[in-house]
Formats: sequence, structure tokens, C-alpha cells
Amino acid sequence: MSQMIETGEKYIMHTYGRFPVVLDHGEGVYLYDENGKKYLDMYAGIAVNALGYNHPKLTETLQEQVKKMLHVSNYYYTKELVGAAKLIVENSIFDKVFFCNSGAEANEAALKLAKKYGKLKNENKNQIIAMKKSFHGRTHGALALTIQEKYQKSFMPLVPNIQAAEYNNIESVKALMSENTCAVILEVIQGEAGIIPAEKAFLQEVEALCKANDALLIIDEVQTGIGRTGTLFAFEQYGIKPDVVSMAKGLGGGVPIGAMACTAKADVLVPGDHASTFGGNPLVTAATQVVLTELTQNGLLDHVKEVGAYLKEQLLALKDEFDCVKDVRGIGLMQGIELTIPILDVEKKCIENGMLIVGAGANVIRFVPPLIVEKAHIDEAISILRKALI
Ligand SMILES: Cc1ncc(COP(=O)(O)O)c(C=O)c1O
Repeated sequence: MSQMIETGEKYIMHTYGRFPVVLDHGEGVYLYDENGKKYLDMYAGIAVNALGYNHPKLTETLQEQVKKMLHVSNYYYTKELVGAAKLIVENSIFDKVFFCNSGAEANEAALKLAKKYGKLKNENKNQIIAMKKSFHGRTHGALALTIQEKYQKSFMPLVPNIQAAEYNNIESVKALMSENTCAVILEVIQGEAGIIPAEKAFLQEVEALCKANDALLIIDEVQTGIGRTGTLFAFEQYGIKPDVVSMAKGLGGGVPIGAMACTAKADVLVPGDHASTFGGNPLVTAATQVVLTELTQNGLLDHVKEVGAYLKEQLLALKDEFDCVKDVRGIGLMQGIELTIPILDVEKKCIENGMLIVGAGANVIRFVPPLIVEKAHIDEAISILRKALI
């Protein structure tokens, strides 16, 4: 075993089951370990590194920003903070942005915003509907919205007044919805549940139910957002207009940033209601501007659509070829293949053969590569995966 792994085992808390690989650096869509072994990265740090590794514009912008200033308080404006917020608003249906540091924090912010929105309407309007098998993060509030026993059971009781509905089952949402519902939160594609896309009619009916009951529709785009599915936000492909969206992961191209955006109707937070010391500091918002500019002005969204369609085509071909591939699901560069064989073995074989991929749920392998991935990389990925399925 590598000395680094031994030392890591000694000092790092065991909140992850790590693979025995010590990563050293990356270039494009490839990572290299401490021994110089090269890995094709179909994982992107779990859908984070939108522009891959050492992207020239992102690297240069960050280097320049490090020389200028890393952090200042949110009690001041910076060009980077304002620029990032402007890019989000001008490329979406939203009017205002709050910056934080992660997906869970973006959902915490959304949770508080929804509660305040409800309280302004009536004292008892504080019920939130979340979906079974959802994933919204591991902090206390976000975990309460994450309706999965395996994540929640050791930490009960959690935040109260959260009700669980069945995903893609409008009757179960209807049964819980009332004038005391202040929000519904859901993912457009349930990621951690095993890449399960929402049905269009379901999302549209949830939107209508929210409108009828004056409840906020919150879409968690932490994984699906920032171009992952070929549009800036995945909900754009569903013909709905949520009131609130949470985002993180790809937003900083690898630096830690999260955000919640809302429409004017939901813009109820005032000074003192919510805050984050680091949220939107100049380093991370400088990175966000690069990522958003690549997506919205330099053709990266179209690239994702094209390469995402190619990835899906290739995965569907594997389904025809291998009995152990049960299903292929996803949109754009967020695709999952459901297997009938243990996914851990497949992940290990892929690592041996020079590719990093990530599981989703019990039996799904997820492809969430850097958005700059090319068709030739997909061909390489499929040939490595094929070896692991034989
Ligand atoms: C849909 C969704 N929401 C929230 C989160 C939590 O994000 P973070 O790990 O940045 O707190 C994740 C992380 O995987 C996610 O996929």
C-alpha cells in the first residue's frame, strides 16, 4: 500500500470508502496518480470539474485573482461577485442570487427562504414536501429533505414539517399539498437514487399545484445544473418556471461555490436572515464567471448536447450487447446504466484499466464527465467499460 494511503487512513475521518488511488494532477479530461498512471475521468469529482483540469482560461483567471485578492467580506461589493450574479440572472428566469459554498448550503438557504415566505403568508404555512429517494445534502436541514432511511436513520430527529411524496407520482403530492405547504423541493433527475429523470407531466403538474396553493417550487439543480444536461438548468427542458433553484458542483469548475437563485416573488430574505462568510468570495466568483461564460457564450452548451447524445447512443449499444446492462437513463452528460452485476467490481476493473467512474444508488454506474469531453474520449470510455462488463 502506498505510504500516502497509510498516512491518510491514520489521520482522515472515515466518512468515505476511498479507492486506493492517490491522485496527483490532471490535464483536460485525464487525471494522473502519484505513480504517473493515467485515468480517463468520467467522474469529474462527482459532476464538478465542468471544464476539466488545467483549463487555460480558468487556470489563468484563478492565478490572476490569487494575486489580486482571495477574500473580502460580503459587507462589500466586488467586480467578481457582481459579475457572477449578473451572469446567472441574465441567463435564467431568476432575479436574485445568494452565494454559499456547497450544494447542501444552497438547499439550506432555500429551506429558510421557503419558511420565511410561508410565515409572511400565514403562521402555519411551514410544511415542505420533498420526494422519496431524493438527495439534497448532508447538513441537518438538507438531510431532512433527503428522504432516504440509510442517510437519515442515525441522525433522527431532524428538521420537522417535511413530508415525503413519491417521485413521478402526482397523486401522492396532491395528497400532501395544502394551504400550509410553503414549498415543494425536487431534483429534475434524481441523481443519488440512480439517475431517475422526472416525467415532464409530473413536473408540470407539481408546478400547477404549487401555484394553486401559493407554495414555492424549489428545484435542486446541484447536480443537473450548470450545463450538465445541455441547458444551463435541466428544468428548462421541462417547460416549467420554478421560484427557486439551488446549484453548486459545476458552478465553480472545481472551486467550492454554491448558490441559490430566486424570482422576485420569492425574494423575501433581508439583512440578518441568512449569510455566509465565504459565500461568493472573489476567488470562487471569478471561476464562476469563466464557467458561465464558456457555457453561455462560447458554445459549451451545444457541445454538451452533442456529446451527451453520443454518450447515450453508445451506452444504449452496450445494452444491446450485454445482458447485464438493464437500463440506460439520463439527459446530456448525466447518464446512468443500471447493471445486474455488482457495480463495485465494475468500478474497480475500470480503475485498473485507467478510468474513473462513479456509482449512483445500489446498481447504477453514472457518467458525469467534464463537460469538455470529446466523442473520442467517449469511445475510449466505452471500450474500458466493455472490458469491465465481460
Ligand atoms: C442533487 C444534489 N443536491 C445536493 C447535493 C449536496 O451537495 P454538496 O455535497 O455540495 O453539499 C448533492 C451532492 O451530490 C446533489 O447531488
